[in-house]
Amino acid sequence: MAQDSSDIGARIVVLASGSGSNLQVLLDAVESGWSVAGVVSDQPDARALRRAAAAEVPSRVVEWGDHADRNEFTDAICAAAGEFDPDYIVLAGFMRVLGPSAVVQFPDRIINIHPSLLPAFPGAHGVRDALAYGAKVTGVTLHFVDEHLDHGPIIAQEALAVMPGDDEAALHSRIQVIEHRLLPEVVTRLAAGEFEISGRKVKRRVNA
Ligand code: GRF
Repeated sequence: MAQDSSDIGARIVVLASGSGSNLQVLLDAVESGWSVAGVVSDQPDARALRRAAAAEVPSRVVEWGDHADRNEFTDAICAAAGEFDPDYIVLAGFMRVLGPSAVVQFPDRIINIHPSLLPAFPGAHGVRDALAYGAKVTGVTLHFVDEHLDHGPIIAQEALAVMPGDDEAALHSRIQVIEHRLLPEVVTRLAAGEFEISGRKVKRRVNA
């Protein structure tokens, strides 16, 4: 695992498009064994970039519109992330679908946090879609990224009840409480080399 001379542990690069509250939790984490080495966003005005700057973490912007197609955009995102020499890449509210070359370049090294219990309600509106469907239970999924959207092997999930009066904002804010606890826990375990992927199953490595 790559480590720089200051021994910051595993180098985590976060991809974020919006608010970046999950990024903030990673920036604030006092876990040993990893730290956020860089942030990449497709949105030049993303609050996530301001959070990175405030934490003195370097960032890059790669805009969708500057690229001819998804493959070119994906390669530019991977190149930007690669500048930070990542051990792992965390998609934390990154709202673009990456092409297959991302997992070729970073095999089993990209994880995503999604606000539903996958495989239910994949896509950009996991909270809204669960509400509209009338689900009584939804939750949070952390998973390795594969070449399909919101599909790779599941690392961790946690459920929560949908309340009768919930709107999207209320439900999402309760989901985010779970996200903010689960994400740093999973990154710590990831950085420790704890996970072994076997087909669709993520197991605990025996000697981790
Ligand atoms: C989170 O709910 C995450 O599950 C989803 O996008 C949201 C990002 O929130 N993929 P934030 O930008 O980290 O606040």
